[in-house]
Amino acid sequence: MMSPNNALHTFQEDLKSITSLESLYVLETQYLGKNGILNESLKSMKDLDPEARKVLGQEVNKIKGEIVESISIAKKKLLSMVDENNAVDVTLPGKKYESGSLHLVTYAIEEISAIFERIGFIRMSYPEIEWEWFSFEALNMPADHPARDDFETFFIDTPAHEKFGKMVLTPHTSSGQIREMLRLGKPPIRMINIAKTYRPNWDASHVPMFHQFEGLCIDKKINITHLKGTIDYFAKEFFGEDRETRLRPFHFQFTEPSFEVDITCDLCAGTGYVSESGRSLDSARDDLKVKCKLCKQGWLELGGTGMVHPNVLTAGGIDPKEYTGWAFGFGVERVMMMKPGVGLNNMRALYDGDIRVLEQF
Ligand code: DAH
Repeated sequence: MMSPNNALHTFQEDLKSITSLESLYVLETQYLGKNGILNESLKSMKDLDPEARKVLGQEVNKIKGEIVESISIAKKKLLSMVDENNAVDVTLPGKKYESGSLHLVTYAIEEISAIFERIGFIRMSYPEIEWEWFSFEALNMPADHPARDDFETFFIDTPAHEKFGKMVLTPHTSSGQIREMLRLGKPPIRMINIAKTYRPNWDASHVPMFHQFEGLCIDKKINITHLKGTIDYFAKEFFGEDRETRLRPFHFQFTEPSFEVDITCDLCAGTGYVSESGRSLDSARDDLKVKCKLCKQGWLELGGTGMVHPNVLTAGGIDPKEYTGWAFGFGVERVMMMKPGVGLNNMRALYDGDIRVLEQF
């Protein structure tokens, strides 16, 4: 056991070799800690007479004070050096970092991929900057065809290719159909392409960069029942067991026949009417019903689909006499905003980067 005076002496010697805050902290604990050298030196007290005990107590307190003082001076000195060297004071409490989460669109993409992977579709990616030919000509939309007006397009300022034309930012994911046919050379094809798409629109339900998911299934004897079954499966997995879908005749250049897919509205459960209080209808009180504000007739539009046009199969190198197929293209943001409970009614909010929106998911 060390006498208090000796302790002060060894402390002063030890202090001379201290060059960092870490080792100063260790030294401080060694001398002033609960089981430190100074407290140890008080252990002899119990054998002393009261007068000597008092003297020892005062001496230890005085030396403690001196050590505290020296440590505080040494600490200040080291801290000023820390500033200069830009080092870290390990004795400070740590910083708390907020933990993040995935973006809502990323969650939707993961969920959509998983749903289609479960029924044997492979997820593929193709160029985001694409030749015009893959986005239009090969999809049965020759140059100057008015159907191209539906796909307002961002063109890239580069020289045109002899066969493939200009370069564009993919205005839809349908170009992936051709890419996949040419990649595999031969059916069967079951592919899902989820990618960024670009069109110059900016309002509550359109943003210039958005995402689509495109499904393609080609094999011998593929028909519309396979298409309807797959879309039903997706709708029930993604939106809920109680949702129904329907195919409504429509026109697209790249499919024949073509349809738009509708899904029953979540708010009015497909009836087109809600009770006056705004929730699902109580059929016993028909007199109180009002038109559903969300869908107006019980159905919400999901996106486009149809049987792949023979010209499109031919452009992809597949013989339309031997094979048939279907395709669909839906908007990721759109289906995600239609999911029960998401409660987003302005698509721009997804891309404003406002932390108050992002924090909720
Ligand atoms: N490409 C279409 C669009 O962006 C959507 C679409 C419609 C995709 C019908 C398809 C389809 O595959 O069969 O509006």
